[in-house]
Parts: sequence; structure tokens; C-alpha cells
Amino acid sequence: MIQYSCSHGGVYSVDPRLVRVDFSSNVNPLGISESVLKILRKNLPKISSIYPDNEHKNLKKKIINYLDSGLSYDSINIGNGATEIIYNFARAFVRKQVIIPYPTFCEYELASRKIGAKIKHVPLKDWKLDVDSISEKTRNSDAIFLCNPNNPTGLFSYELVEKLVDKIDSSIKILIDESFIEFVDETKHPRTFIEKINEFRNVVVLRSLTKSFGLAGLRLGYSVSHPSMEKKISHNKITWNINGLAQLAGITALDNLSHLKKARKIITGERELMYARINHNLSSFSAIKSDVNFYLIRLSHGHCRQIRDLLLKKNGILVRECSDFKGMNDKYIRVAVRTHDENLELFDALESLDK
Ligand SMILES: Cc1ncc(COP(=O)(O)O)c(C=O)c1O
Repeated sequence: MIQYSCSHGGVYSVDPRLVRVDFSSNVNPLGISESVLKILRKNLPKISSIYPDNEHKNLKKKIINYLDSGLSYDSINIGNGATEIIYNFARAFVRKQVIIPYPTFCEYELASRKIGAKIKHVPLKDWKLDVDSISEKTRNSDAIFLCNPNNPTGLFSYELVEKLVDKIDSSIKILIDESFIEFVDETKHPRTFIEKINEFRNVVVLRSLTKSFGLAGLRLGYSVSHPSMEKKISHNKITWNINGLAQLAGITALDNLSHLKKARKIITGERELMYARINHNLSSFSAIKSDVNFYLIRLSHGHCRQIRDLLLKKNGILVRECSDFKGMNDKYIRVAVRTHDENLELFDALESLDK
């Protein structure tokens, strides 16, 4: 089998001792909330030595309340990060071939390759889903992976996803990864496909709590689907897949939504400020509009890996170089929207490299 590697940003993608500010991981700029930290500290001794709830009952209950869509327990699957569910989805439904629009998050391809499936790549058209091209290629495909909002482009379109799902034969399973939907501008009225899981029984909607609530190290995600799909996905779950601290963190985070609300406000304002600052003042870098908590910066010269290394060495700032995303070239870096002072630091560091 051909070896396929899938790389990520994050402090461990380089020498972690060099990283002072991490712009390469797209997580809540405020990190974990004080209320979650407080509960975790208090309960650490007790939780560390008892087995966690294997059914995740309290967490599922909170998720159902949070989504406010009248879902039942057996529509929800809890994963050790959204990533675990990508793999369990692949194990449950992928056999011979899958369709993956690109550029996108690399784990869909890695999970499918591990099953031995062939990958049909379909390029985005003007960085949007090419609905016609995808629907023409579905013959012999078991599944389609859609990322909405998409990583690394940061663009969201409910309408294109809906158009595509409508066109596709219901025997083909579709994973819609909405891991970043909570960061889409409210002014865009982001609609979730969760509303449609009873109508489209071939669809699984994926969410991540690690990004929205700053829990990347604790690992927590979930999916929503018709119960018949949930049953097949959870068939591959290992017993006690979510540790007790992660469950408690998720429950508490969903009880304190003001943290996410605050982060969302920062992101909307800061993203616009960074576009204006970069695009009006710098000639070697241009920021590309996105709908979420990260955006691409195009380099007019230099290699993105070289820029990443310079920023890291000189400023302790880590950005995500994009040359290893299929369909991207060496002219892009991806950065998260962080707090005001951190964003200013990034701008100053880019300015010092501007020619
Ligand atoms: C689109 C997308 N989905 C899922 C994940 C993984 O999420 P989690 O940390 O919940 O496994 C990432 C991580 O970067 C991502 O970009």
C-alpha cells in the first residue's frame, strides 16, 4: 500500500521550545474557560481514579440541549476529538472509493487510505465546492467528505452543501465536517446540516468541542446523524473512549456559553482589523477573506516554509505553512485569529519581513 502522510500545525510540528504564540492551531483565542478549569481542578483527584461513563449520558444530554433540535440520544456519537469519528465513519462506510474535494483537512484521506480505499480528488472551483464535478464522479464511490467551513480556505457555504447532498444518491454516505461552524460570523446566519439529518439518512454531521471551547489537549468531538448511522459508527468505538476529565470539561463548557460568545466577538472584529492592516500596509503579504477564526495569507515571494521558520526563529510565532495541503502551493500560510495584542504581534512580525 502507498504510504500517505498527513501533517498538521500545532506546537509539536516544530521544536515546541521555540513556540511562544501558536497561530497554527485554529482554536478559541481565549483558550479554555476559567469555569471549566475551576471544575477540572476541583474534580481531578476523584475523576482520575474512577472509570468514566462509557455511555457519555450527561454529555449527550448537554449536547442535545445545546443543539436545541429535538434530537434523541441515539443520534449522537461522542468521539475522542472529531478525528476519532472520521476514522470510525471510514471503518463503517468506506470500502472501495471515496470523493474528497480539495484543498481540505487531510485526515479524511488518511482514514480512507487506511481502509484501502481509492481517493477521487475533486478540486474546488474558485475555492468553492464544485457541485457538478463531484456529482459526476460518484459512480463506485461509498462516501464523500465535505468540510464546511473548509480548512484551510475558511469559507462556509450551506447552500452548496445542500445542493450537492440533494443531487447525490442516498446510498452514498456523506460526512459533513462542521468543526468550525461555531466561529462563522453570525451576520452570515450559518445554518447547520443537523436540521436535515432525518431527511437525509446518509448524512453524518461532525462537530468538535476542542476548537470552540479550547479543549484541544483533552480531545472531544461528536457527530449527529440518523440513529441507524450512529449505530454503525459507534460499532467501532473502543470502550471508555472519552476520559472523565474531557467529559466533565465538555459538560461544563456547554453550560457556560458566554466564553464562546466572547471569543466569537473577538474573532469577528480582529479578523476584519487584520485584513485591513495587512492588505493596506504590506506589499509582500495579502490576507484572504474567510468566514471563520483563521485565514490564509498569500506571499508575493519566498517559500511559505521559509516564512514560517523565520517568524518562529525571530519572533517565537508559529504559523501553518500550506505547501503540504494538496491543491495549495508554497505561497500560502494559514493563521488563526487570536487576541488583539497577539494579532498585533503577528502584524509587526510580518511587517519586519515586508520588502
Ligand atoms: C476540519 C477539521 N476537522 C476536524 C479536526 C480535528 O478536530 P478534533 O481536534 O476535534 O479532533 C480539524 C483539526 O484541525 C479540522 O481542521
